[in-house]
Order: sequence, then C-alpha cells, then structure tokens
Amino acid sequence: MRCKIVGLLFFTFVYATICVAQKKSNNQKADSVLRLMTLDEKVGQLNQYNDDNQATGPVTIDNNKVDQVKNGQVGSLLNTIGSDRTRSWQELAMQSRLKIPLIFGQDVIHGFKTTFPIPLAEAASWDLPAIQMSARIAATEASASGIHWTFAPMVDIARDPRWGRVMEGAGEDPYLGSLISAARVKGFQGLNLGDTNAVMACVKHFAAYGAAVGGRDYNSVDMSERQLYEIYLPPFKAAVDAGAASFMNSFNDLNGIPAVANNFLQRTILKEKWGFKGFIVSDWGSIGELINHGYVKDTREAAAAALMAGTDMDMESRAFKNNLAQLVKDGKINIELVNDAVKRILIKKFEMGLFDNPYKFSNIMREQAALNNPAHQAAARTMAAKSIVLLKNNNNILPLSKNYKKIAFIGPLVKSLIENKGFWDVSIPGVDSNFIVSQWEGLQNKIGPGTSLLYAKGCDIEGNNKSGFSEAVSVANQADVVILSIGEKRDMSGEAKSRSNINIPGVQEELLQQLLATGKPVVVLINAGRPLVFNYTAKNATAILYTWWLGSEAGNGIADVLFGDYNPSAKLPMTFPASVGQIPIYYNHFNTGRPALDDKNHIYNSSYLDESIFPKFPFGFGLSYTNFSYTNLVLSNKNMNMKDSISVSFTLTNTGKIAGEEVAQLYLHNKHASVVMPVKALKDFKKIMLTPGESKKIQFNINKEKLSFFNSNLKWDAEPTDFELMIGSSSEDIRLQASFELKK
Ligand code: GLC
Repeated sequence: MRCKIVGLLFFTFVYATICVAQKKSNNQKADSVLRLMTLDEKVGQLNQYNDDNQATGPVTIDNNKVDQVKNGQVGSLLNTIGSDRTRSWQELAMQSRLKIPLIFGQDVIHGFKTTFPIPLAEAASWDLPAIQMSARIAATEASASGIHWTFAPMVDIARDPRWGRVMEGAGEDPYLGSLISAARVKGFQGLNLGDTNAVMACVKHFAAYGAAVGGRDYNSVDMSERQLYEIYLPPFKAAVDAGAASFMNSFNDLNGIPAVANNFLQRTILKEKWGFKGFIVSDWGSIGELINHGYVKDTREAAAAALMAGTDMDMESRAFKNNLAQLVKDGKINIELVNDAVKRILIKKFEMGLFDNPYKFSNIMREQAALNNPAHQAAARTMAAKSIVLLKNNNNILPLSKNYKKIAFIGPLVKSLIENKGFWDVSIPGVDSNFIVSQWEGLQNKIGPGTSLLYAKGCDIEGNNKSGFSEAVSVANQADVVILSIGEKRDMSGEAKSRSNINIPGVQEELLQQLLATGKPVVVLINAGRPLVFNYTAKNATAILYTWWLGSEAGNGIADVLFGDYNPSAKLPMTFPASVGQIPIYYNHFNTGRPALDDKNHIYNSSYLDESIFPKFPFGFGLSYTNFSYTNLVLSNKNMNMKDSISVSFTLTNTGKIAGEEVAQLYLHNKHASVVMPVKALKDFKKIMLTPGESKKIQFNINKEKLSFFNSNLKWDAEPTDFELMIGSSSEDIRLQASFELKK
C-alpha cells in the first residue's frame, strides 16, 4: 500500500512538472517570438479582418488583404469557413517573415452544420449536460471546417424582450445564466485547447449589453455598480472560472464610458481582479465607433483609448493597424501595452497548436466525416424536444392521440425550412439549407398510416392578407384536431432586430380566432426568438407549445413532443410580459416601500391603473403532461452561522400517469439587509426524471456563498438576517416554504 502512495505521489509530481513546463513553454515560446517581431508585425497581430465571403457587420473593402496577410499585417480572419478556404489563407500567412499562423473566428452560436435550438431555447431546457453537449458538437463540426475560435457563448443577461439579441443568451437570471455560461465554455473548449475538436470560446459582450435603454440594440446602458455586479457580471465571471480563452467587448457605453475603451471593465475587473489571461477582441468596428460615441476625436485617439483600456484585438475598424505604430513612435502609447496584447494572442495560438501545425484544423477528410454525423442530428432532435415549453394544455389535449384520422396542420411556418434555424445560423458555402426537418415533415415522419395530415398556409407571418383564411377554415372543418404554427420571422430577432411591439405579427391571431370558431380543438405552436405578447392566444387556444427556433431537427423535435414521445420539461428562462408596457419585468425585483398589488381598493402602491403587475407567464414556468407533488420539506436546522450550512430536503412525486422530468427550483429571500434585496432569487435547481407514482428525496445545500451578496460597500459577503426559503415549479408556483436565520 505504502509503495502505491509513493508511486502516485511521484507520478503527480512528474505530471505537474510537465504541465508547468508545458504552460511555461507556451509563455516562453510567445516571448521568444515577441522578441523577434518588428513593431509593424506586432500591430499586425492585433488586426482582424472579415473574410469577403460573408459579413456580419458593416463592410469595409480592402483590395490588398492578401498582401497584408503575406506581410504579417493580419493576426486573424473572421467568417472564413471550410478546410480549403482556411488552408489557402494560412498558406499565405506562412509566406510572412515569422510565419505566425492566422486564427480563424466564426459566430458558431448554436451549432455549425447541425443547427441546434437558439441559445434562449436551450436555456429553457435547464439541462446543463445537454447544453454542454450542444456546444461540444458545434465545436466538433466547426473545428473540422477550419474554425479555431467561436464568438460564443453570448452571456448577456437580458430583462427586455424588445431587444432582439435575447435569442442569443440564457435569459434574465444570473444564477442560471452563470451555469449555462460555464457549460457552453466547457462544451466549446473541450478537455484541452489544442485538441483538434476544441475551439476557443469568446465570451460576449462585455459588458451589460443586454440592458440597452428601450431594448434598442447598441443603445446606452446606465446602471449602478451593484446591479452590474449582482446581475450582469456573474455569467462573465463564471466563464473566466471555466477557463474561457477570450472575451469580446460590447458596443454599448456603460455609465458614460464605451465598453471598448472601458478600463474599469477590461483591466480593473476582468484582467486584474478576475486574473483573466486570455485576450479581448473588440466587436465589429467598435473601436472606430468611439468617434460616434463622442468619446474621441479621431481614429488615432480611438486606437489609443481602446488599447490603454485593455482591448487587445481590433475587429474590422482598422484603427489599430493605421495608428498604433505611430502612437508608439510618438511616445503616446507604451510599447509594453502592445507587447502584452500581442503576447496574449500568441499564447493562445501556441495553446491551439497552430505554430506546430498551422493546418491542423484544415483537413478535408475530417470535415466530411464531421459534417455528416447522424449522432449530431440525433442530439439536435433531443435538444429541440427538451427546449419546447408547454404553456397550456386544456383538457389534456396533448399529447395527441395517434388514433386521430385527420389532423389539420395550418400556418405560415408549417412548411418553412430556413426559418427554423433562427438568427446566427452558420451559412456554409455549398451546404444546402434543406438539411432541416420542417415541421410538416416532422409530423409526416410521426403519424401512422391511419392518420392523414391536411395543410393550409392560412396567412403570411406579416401583412393583412386574409385571403387564405377560408381555405384554412375548410381544412380545419375536415379534421379532428388543428395544429396552428405561427410566430415571428427568424430575422425579427437577433442582432439589430429590436421591436417596439412584441405581438405576434400580421393577422395570425385573427386566423386562430377563425379556426377556433369551427369548434375544433386548436394546438398552437409559437415560433419566436424572444418572449412575445399573445394574450388572445393565451386565453383561447386549447394548448400552446412555445417552440422558439429549434434548428435542423425542429420538425422531429416538435412531433416528439406533440405525440408524447418526449414529455415537455422546459421552463421559461425569461419572464413573458402581459404587455410591452410592463417591460422591464423580471421575477427577482425589489419589494419597494409600497409593494405592487393587483387590488384597485388600495391605490397607494406600485401598480398600474391600466395593466396587471403580473407577467403572462413567469420566470421558471413550464407545464408537463404529468403532475408533480412537493412534500416533506425538512431543514437540518432552523439557523446557521457563517461557517455552517443547512441541508434542505423534500420529496418530489410524479402523481400522474406519464413519466416526466421536473425542474424543482430553490429560491431564497433575504428579508432585511444593508441593501434592499430581491423578493426572491434563484439559488439552486434540480432536474429530475420520475416514472408515474415514483417519489425521490431531493436535497439542496445552503451555505454562506448562497447567502452572500454585494453589500453596502460593494463587498461580496453575507450578513446575519432572516431568510425565507421557497421551493417551487416556477418562480410563482411555490410549493414549499420555510424560514431560517443566519447568525454571525
Ligand atoms: C457582430 C456581433 C458579434 C459578432 C461579431 C462578428 O456585430 O455583435 O456578436 O460576434 O459581429 O460577427
């Protein structure tokens, strides 16, 4: 036994020495290259251009990119896809004096060739292993097509569904958002940067981009440091802790300082306080946009401000390329700032193994194998089903019987293909968009020989044309049940897609009204990249599934849920408002001195004259085809001190007839503190599968960390106080309650 321990200790020592040597060697290798570089070559590493085959921002035409790459004046390209295209660019870079490899970046946000549900939909699954697997598959496919670096995960907390980019994140909650952020970073980066199926993550947009005034993209953000620390920064910190290789800053100004030139954000918090060793890339052109912000006079000042504030790489503005060398020569910029930025980038290129083999990701055989992998499609189908939220199910019309003779499948999204991919899908040259299972095809794949599917489009997504209503009503009259698929267009959410009105567009809800008038049960599928307002549908539809944008396997995932082959388990990661006038509306709000009441007899409180204070559907809400009971809440003790913990247990039972998963949520309310605290805050959750009648004992552990917050001095700490503990099926559907005290 003793010799085993000695052997283990010796192995550990040797392994640790190798690791330290390896890390140190990347550091040293970067230093050795840095010492050889001219000032122009250093500036070149900080310069990133868009490739010319597609654009994700306002394009600037350069006619000499090839020469610049050959002369070592470019460090990275974005939107370069494919092993062939990346290889040819890399071959040009290998003609440069020092042969420093390019790094290729791409917005692989929710899948590459196999498109997964949009990130907000995946967040609704609350299934961290599945979310991590989704990112892992995206990285496997993207890396096989020459991509080294994905501009993901987007971890911006968002409380305003008018903002189109809510589709890209994980919703409104910092706790859930932090767990999902870490899962996505680990999924993209895999076990080891440098593995050929690992891509660098790029956590964005740093920071507080989701709090843009009015939900208007790129708009200003103004908030207290406390709200920044409590709500908007945690998912970024979680990403650093998960080992994220890079960050991307945001377009917005934060409290008067644009993020790209925000020293407090990028140096004080990210690089110093959190110890982030990767590099920061600016968002598209944002360094040059400092002029529009009125923060600098010209691009020379912009380049200086951005570099001094910690921005390391310049995406597409050319401010660094055109100004940094002269700024150094003029003594305006310390060369050490340039060296630090270059070294951060070189270290990542070494970690990715690109100096050893610049072409390691450009392998046509691997690309062809990875991009046609049935296992990836199967994972996308499962993720699609896990992301669908059951909002209503009157008379348990769902799951649909497989004995229906005729099913009418109606609506403008029934036979769409590309719409199912949502925003930020990767359009791969030469890869057809038919690699998508439409909703129509999904049901065709599912129904038995005794069932026929009847179709009518009914109307368009937008516009007032009702000429298709009569055909739709006629089709509905022939059927036993109607499924209506309505919603937004996929490009009504995403970047630069803010909406002031978040109703279901056009005459789609009027079409629903006509179909309901036939007396047939109508199951509504709502397809969108954001929470929408759909009060008529919510009130009158027989059943509602929120199907977001579900990607390549949308049709199969929807069919699996409609017919009960998957029992929906998803829960809303964002509050759904009853009207746009309620926005911003979120569950973890403060109580105020005159808490809102929906009671017209009490006027002096924080409510509206003309609208409820309650959302249409609250954070954490989602139904199942079965039911769950929560019983036997037990706390190990009724009080604890700062070093203690309290274990909480309860029994969860499936009281229905169908197996299903429940997301049991733990919320805490700090009842009085040195600053006001939210009426509740998500602090833990468990996703549990139970067969009919099965019970399981569920446990949570409460320690000081879960009770801590940024106090009146903005110090992360806990204070002696009373807590209310709530366990529920949503933030509003609290099933068990208790209280406990935290002592000194
Ligand atoms: C866009 C987006 C950013 C994306 C980048 C590259 O403007 O804001 O999220 O990664 O440009 O496409």
